[in-house]
Amino acid sequence: MNTRTIDEITSGRRLRRNRRFEWNRRLVREHTLNSGDLIWPVFLVEGEGVREPIRLLPGVMRFSIDEAVKAAKEAHKLGIPAVATFPSIAQDLRDVTGSQILDPDGLINRFTRASKREVPDMGVITDVALDPFTSSGHDGIVRDGIIVNDETVEQISRAAIVQAEAGADIVSCSEMMDGRVGAIRDSLNGAGFNDTGILSYTAKYASSFYGPYREAVGTDKMLKGDKSTYFLDPANSDEALHEAMLDINEGADILMVKPGLPYLDIIRRLKNEFSMPTFAYQVSGEYAMIMAGAEKGFLDEERAIIESLTCFKRAGADAILTYFAPRVAEILQR
Ligand code: PBG
Repeated sequence: MNTRTIDEITSGRRLRRNRRFEWNRRLVREHTLNSGDLIWPVFLVEGEGVREPIRLLPGVMRFSIDEAVKAAKEAHKLGIPAVATFPSIAQDLRDVTGSQILDPDGLINRFTRASKREVPDMGVITDVALDPFTSSGHDGIVRDGIIVNDETVEQISRAAIVQAEAGADIVSCSEMMDGRVGAIRDSLNGAGFNDTGILSYTAKYASSFYGPYREAVGTDKMLKGDKSTYFLDPANSDEALHEAMLDINEGADILMVKPGLPYLDIIRRLKNEFSMPTFAYQVSGEYAMIMAGAEKGFLDEERAIIESLTCFKRAGADAILTYFAPRVAEILQR
C-alpha cells in the first residue's frame, strides 16, 4: 500500500491530462509529418509504357521514362517536393568504370530532362554512385579487388556535370568515397553549375537493409563481397560526425543518414552538432519489413508507415526518402 497519494507523489503533475482527447493531443503534438517532408525514390528502365513490379519491393515499380514522368506529375499534385532517380540498365552495358553514367542520354538524364519539361516545379535529385553501371555492382571502380578511391571520384565528378547539364537540381553522392563532395563541388562550379546542390550521403552504413534495392537496380546477382571498405560500420557513431565535418567543409548543402530507422540516433547527433539540413533514407529493407509484417498480419501497415516516418521527424530529419511517399501523401490528404 502507498503511504502517499498519487498527487502527493507527482506534486499534482499528471501528464495524462494532455492525452485525454484527440484535440488536446493534437495541440501538444511536437512533430507532424506532411507531404512536404517526402522525397520519392523512383526506379527507371528502358522502354515505353513500362511499369514493372519488383519482387522484393511489393507495390514499387520500375518505370519507363514516360511512365515515370506521369508518376512524378501525380506525386507533384500530391504535394511531394522531389523525386530521386535510380536506373536499372541492361547487364551488358555495365563495365568496370561504369562508363554509362557519362551518357548524356542515359536513363537518369533523359528522365531529368523530361521531368523538368513536364513538371518543372518538381525537384529532381540524381545520384552519381556507380553501382547501377559497374560490372561489379560496387559503387566505385574495382582494380585488383580494391574499390579505388581517387579514380572513382574523378569519374563521379564527371557524372555530376552530365547530370547537372540535364537539369538535375541536386546531385547526390551515395558511394562514400573520400573527398567526393569537394571534388564534385569543384567540378560543378568549373562547369558553371554553381547553383546545383549537393546532397551528401554523409553517414551511409554498410547495412543489410539494402537487399531489395539491389534487386531493383539489378546488382543483386553480380555483387561480390560487401561494401564495408567504403560504407560506415554500423557500430560507429562518432565516425558519422567526422564524415559530416568533412562533407560540410567540402561544400555539402544537405547531409543524409542511411538507413533510417535503426540509425535515428545518428540523425539526432548530426542535427544537434551541425544544425544542417539533414535528410534520412527509409531504405528498401525497411520498406520491405513493413510490407512483409503487414502481409503476415503482424502489424497494421498504414499505422506502421506513418509512425515510422513521424519518428524520423522526431529524430531531427528535415526530409525523408521513402518508397511510401505517394501513398503517405495520399493518406495525409484524407
Ligand atoms: C548505392 C545505393 C544503395 C542504395 C541506393 N544507392 C545501397 C547499396 O546498394 O549498397 C540503397 C537504397 C535502398 O536500399 O533503398 N549507391
